[in-house]
Amino acid sequence: MNKINFIPNIFTEDMITKLAQEETGKRQYYRPVYSLHKWWARRSGALFRTIILLAVQKEQREQLFQNIGTTQLSRESKYFHSHDLSDIVIFDPFMGGGTTLVEANRMGAKVIGCDINPVSHWIVQETLKDIDIERLQTYFAQLEKTAGEKIKLLYKTLCSVCGSDADGMYTFWVRYVNCPNCRKPVYLFKRYFLNAGMKRNQKISRTNPAVVVCPGCHALNKFYGGDSGRARLLPSCNCEHCSMVFHPDDEIFNEGYYSCSHCKTKNFSLIETIQSGHELYEKMIAIEYFCPCCNQRLYKAPDKHDFAKIAELEEQFEQSKNMLLFPRQEIPHGSSSARWLAHKFTHYYQVFNARQIIAFNILFEAIQAIPEQSYHEAFITIFSNSLEYNNMMTPYNYPNRKLHHLFNYHALPLTTTPVENCVWGVSNEGAGTFVNCYNRYVQAKKYCKRPFDKYKNAAGKIHTIYSKNEKISAQFVKSFDELKSTPRAVWLNCHDSSSLPQIPDNSVDYVITDPPYHDNIHYSELSNFFFVWLKLFNLLPYFSVDHVPIKNEAIVNAGMEKNEEDYQRLITEVFKECQRVLKDTGQMIFTFHHKKRQAWWIILKAIVDSGFVVSDYFPVVSEYKVNPHVRDKQSLDMDLVIICEKETTASGNAVSSTDTVCASVERKLISLEAISQITEDKLFLYIMGEALKLGSCCEKLVYKTFSDVLDEAMQNISKFIFQNNLDARSDLQDIAFDERFEAQQLTLF
Ligand SMILES: C[S@@+](CC[C@H](N)C(=O)[O-])C[C@H]1O[C@@H](n2cnc3c(N)ncnc32)[C@H](O)[C@@H]1O
Ligand SMILES: [Zn+2]
Ligand SMILES: [Zn+2]
Ligand SMILES: [Zn+2]
Repeated sequence: MNKINFIPNIFTEDMITKLAQEETGKRQYYRPVYSLHKWWARRSGALFRTIILLAVQKEQREQLFQNIGTTQLSRESKYFHSHDLSDIVIFDPFMGGGTTLVEANRMGAKVIGCDINPVSHWIVQETLKDIDIERLQTYFAQLEKTAGEKIKLLYKTLCSVCGSDADGMYTFWVRYVNCPNCRKPVYLFKRYFLNAGMKRNQKISRTNPAVVVCPGCHALNKFYGGDSGRARLLPSCNCEHCSMVFHPDDEIFNEGYYSCSHCKTKNFSLIETIQSGHELYEKMIAIEYFCPCCNQRLYKAPDKHDFAKIAELEEQFEQSKNMLLFPRQEIPHGSSSARWLAHKFTHYYQVFNARQIIAFNILFEAIQAIPEQSYHEAFITIFSNSLEYNNMMTPYNYPNRKLHHLFNYHALPLTTTPVENCVWGVSNEGAGTFVNCYNRYVQAKKYCKRPFDKYKNAAGKIHTIYSKNEKISAQFVKSFDELKSTPRAVWLNCHDSSSLPQIPDNSVDYVITDPPYHDNIHYSELSNFFFVWLKLFNLLPYFSVDHVPIKNEAIVNAGMEKNEEDYQRLITEVFKECQRVLKDTGQMIFTFHHKKRQAWWIILKAIVDSGFVVSDYFPVVSEYKVNPHVRDKQSLDMDLVIICEKETTASGNAVSSTDTVCASVERKLISLEAISQITEDKLFLYIMGEALKLGSCCEKLVYKTFSDVLDEAMQNISKFIFQNNLDARSDLQDIAFDERFEAQQLTLF
């Protein structure tokens, strides 16, 4: 076993978290390459750069992060230098959004990536390919003239202030059902605000009124706020048009239930209403537009021309349906799609309206006229990325006056008040338009040509350091022999990684990956949303199926009848292949997180059954803390990075007692300088890391022992913390025992 610690000191551990945290909070700014296309729960590039460097430059681990004083990161640190790893082969069997591949390619390593998901393969290829930015800009200028102008016409509207032609930016819709009791329409508003004042970050006031919709007549009103006299609630608003008095933050629809204001019946379930045969309709309620004459963004209730335009487009869609390009696939059953299906959205095209599909077709026609395939494909990627903000499920971030992206929660949300973007975009305003996604693509490609790292110093100033001799640029190859003989070679594979006959035994220096985390994110289900559109243009063999293949996806997804046994089997098979292709001196390093004990057990079993032992571990911040996914679902906001070596090279010092786990964790805690800053997540991961390390060396591993060790370790460590007064926070003990573990019984084995 490798005697040198993977993480040389606590400073290094802290710096990894610092860099990862800064990046995940502001990815587009720190590493724009990862904003080229949506991928879910991307780990930070900084983390994978660090993992690669720590793995490859064993003797220089201490210099990776150098400090000034005790806490400040020095810009002389090796991390910021240019590196040349051209003689190293790195493999990622779950490449996803391609973080490992991008970071490794940046330092010149040869990389092999594999993923079962065609969307992943597509995105990684697009990210790593070379492209001439000027040429891309020339083609974009052409598109703007052909498609851009035509698409913008679809959103023209008359300014309600000056009467001149204006550009529609956002069209606000509300879904409604007819009340099962009195048959009158119930508009499923979640609130009546369209914004929280015209000026962002300022309170609603006389000089900064909010725009609200009247629930009675749907006219738009100005709302000035003020004191309501009612606890918690805002004051009421008096409609200027129908005199109705209403509270703008009252909601008709909440958590799947609605009430009818006509017959006063309360708590109808929307799903039940729809399942009993009622339809869900949509009504256009407001338009936010930019008036060049008034030179500002304004709101209006739609006028007769706006309604006529929508009716005309719906008619056009019906007439030309057979000739238009759009996906015809059904939405398959699954845990993430259940909500859409329950509301009778059964086909992907149903989450788009006629205007969107017509606008896309105008765009397709122009994109298809681009003669060079690589540029043509770049624009398809840009289009695909824009889908997330151009559909009829996109919610609106009303205080910030911009769109939320669809997958804010790593799920397929049902939105009763969707906001329709202008597909092309109005000047440079707004998020998620084609123009906006094009800009992101360009920023990504500029980064590839001149990559950099950023870090914040103690004073909060952000430093940017360019790595002069690095770049992200692939030479795509199709075999191992070619990989060996080609500089900057990237070999992408799109299939199940549990069988990799094309990669020879003992040929890879490092396996570095981020495997699927149990039931965390339903990749195939979510990515179908892009897949069905990408497939329209793709003749590549892996796009020939109707949906993203699920059969061999390593995932727990009850909605798709994929259980823990399937997940365990697939993860183990993939790890076995990694063991086979890995050189005896190599390491397999991966991230993992989950709150469920079973999930960790499955990973431990897979490590052991595939012939690995855990040689080291360290915790690192993963997803940004405010990410709602982390709060709502059972996942931690820290990952454990697990370092495995082949069993044959390890000098199995098998120890089988809880004391070992406790002693190691206690040593760690004592060595921590800022002990009071230890969070429950971190402590949990230290204990888990030690348990995995110990468990992977055990002769006979059973779940009961693993579980007992964890229980005991939790208790002992909490006592230790308490006795040594190491942590002032009294909640630690409770959380360590009850919430995380008490509920977890031996349900699996
Ligand atoms: C957590 S994601 C990886 C995310 C990625 N490392 C990143 O940060 O961008 C896991 C990936 O594993 C892939 N996957 C699941 N089962 C697989 C299998 N049997 N073979 C290959 N890939 C698989 C999924 O399609 C998904 O892209
Ligand atoms: Zn105007
Ligand atoms: Zn009613
Ligand atoms: Zn009214």
